[in-house]
Amino acid sequence: MKSSVENTDFLIIGGGVAGLRAAIELAPQGRVIVLTKDRLNEGSTGYAQGGIAVALSDEDEVRIHYEDTINAGDGLCDEEAVRSLVEKGPEFILELISWGAEFDKEGSKLDFTMEAAHSRKRILHSHGDSTGKELERVLVNKVRTFPSVSKYDFSFTRDLIIEDGRCIGVSAIKNDEIKNIFARAVILATGGAGRLFSRTTNPPITTADGMAIAYRAGAVLKDMEFVQFHPTSFYSTSAPQFLLSESLRGEGAFLRNINGKRFMPEYHPMADLAPRDAVARAIVSEMVKTGAPHVYLDLTHLEAPFTKKRFPLIYSTCLTFNVDITKDLIPVSPAAHYIMGGVKTNLKGETSIKGLFAAGEVACTGVHGANRLASNSLLEGLVFGAETGRTAAQYAVNIKKPDAAPALNKKNPETPDLDLQKMKDTMRRTMWDKVGIIRCRESLSEAKNKFNEWDHVLKAALLSRQELELKNMLTVSHLITDACLLREGSIGAHYRSDFKDRGKNWKRHTECQREKGTGWA
Ligand code: FAD
Ligand code: SIN
Repeated sequence: MKSSVENTDFLIIGGGVAGLRAAIELAPQGRVIVLTKDRLNEGSTGYAQGGIAVALSDEDEVRIHYEDTINAGDGLCDEEAVRSLVEKGPEFILELISWGAEFDKEGSKLDFTMEAAHSRKRILHSHGDSTGKELERVLVNKVRTFPSVSKYDFSFTRDLIIEDGRCIGVSAIKNDEIKNIFARAVILATGGAGRLFSRTTNPPITTADGMAIAYRAGAVLKDMEFVQFHPTSFYSTSAPQFLLSESLRGEGAFLRNINGKRFMPEYHPMADLAPRDAVARAIVSEMVKTGAPHVYLDLTHLEAPFTKKRFPLIYSTCLTFNVDITKDLIPVSPAAHYIMGGVKTNLKGETSIKGLFAAGEVACTGVHGANRLASNSLLEGLVFGAETGRTAAQYAVNIKKPDAAPALNKKNPETPDLDLQKMKDTMRRTMWDKVGIIRCRESLSEAKNKFNEWDHVLKAALLSRQELELKNMLTVSHLITDACLLREGSIGAHYRSDFKDRGKNWKRHTECQREKGTGWA
């Protein structure tokens, strides 16, 4: 296998909202490389539908956005992180608008919509239900104005390069060539872990690579048990899963069971706009009661022209699967959507490893606590992406460019012959069935035993993107399962059927690190 070596000032792994916003901050400070494992714009960011939460409407206040975020986080948010997010949010959105972002308007005023657990209409949206695409467009265009930023697509990061406890670069693979890239500072912005579960709203890139490579390098990860399940993903045995935005319910859609009965008012005072974990569990309960693999989302009572204009992407996508959302009930069931845990950072994006920074969904700033308030993650990517960029620039002032060592990587002859697809499918099904919306000691232990059978994968020297993704998925599946086992209590998105109360340790956070295993912080 060929190999090459390169030097740069800053290396950002990830081209979503967090990575791009960090790149914009770093571009005036030196040479920046943005690595993505697929096309530049292939990540969760581009698929975001509902919108971006910000306290900018006349009826809203930063204080109320703060309170809603804290309430959704169920007692485990880092209050300082939340304050930073909601206070800085408005200036970041106005900046985005000044760069050309087009958010939908009602007349001459920005149009804000509602989503679950928000007490005000505060979600800005674009082209109806394509907010993420608009953000990605504007950020990519802005990045293109800086000649100092190079974008390397289809470059899969395999591992971090650590020297004397400091991150000095990464080893990546592109077109069957190993590329070691050395940098003064490295930012992880690799997104989430939805693909660990067989039902997910997330795109294929979300195999938790950033969390796995940070863990292998010795970084501390936090709150890995907190995975958010979105209540409404399109259900069909013959169509791909895709998200049906919560803003559909924000605009008046209802959930019905397969007998046509509205059920959410029986489960929660906020009915269809209850927090996501409550709605997801209520759906599971109705599915069990009725013996059906799905429930329905009903927006047939909304005016058809409104529905088509407000949700053009969802309308046209459902139509390709013969569901006309203005006339038909939409079959839906929950799916893994977002991970609140991740690589532990402080508010400046610093991780426990010098020279390594993290932002976006891969990071755990503590802003989401045990459950993320809808539409807060795009905002998090902007605010903490920029902050992390600034911190990396300051750190690099006293760091000289590392001397590039030769790339030395040969395929290990002992690489096992793995049935990658079969193992991935089994792992994802195990995560969904045993570590999913409702967990207990028995199911979690079964998952752990299954994952232990594949220990040889973790030890093997693997090279291709597919092999490494499997290894990363397995690593992080272990970490999530261990954290779920440790937290004997139910809080936020983590629900244990054998410990329905919050548990005596509920105020504490779980942490895991390669050397120490999983424990309480
Ligand atoms: P991503 O946008 O996922 O980008 C990750 C990047 O990392 C990609 O460029 C990828 O190529 C790169 N990468 C990963 N691994 C490697 C590797 N090994 N080597 C090299 N590169 C790598 N949030 C909201 O706030 N509002 C919404 O309306 C909303 N809707 C959503 C709808 C859907 C369908 C989904 C899936 C999520 C939604 N979310 C929403 C959540 C939000 O989109 C994500 O949390 C956010 O976009 C994550 O941004 P990011 O920059 O951290 O990662
Ligand atoms: C949605 O549109 O329902 C997703 C919003 C989010 O995950 O923040």
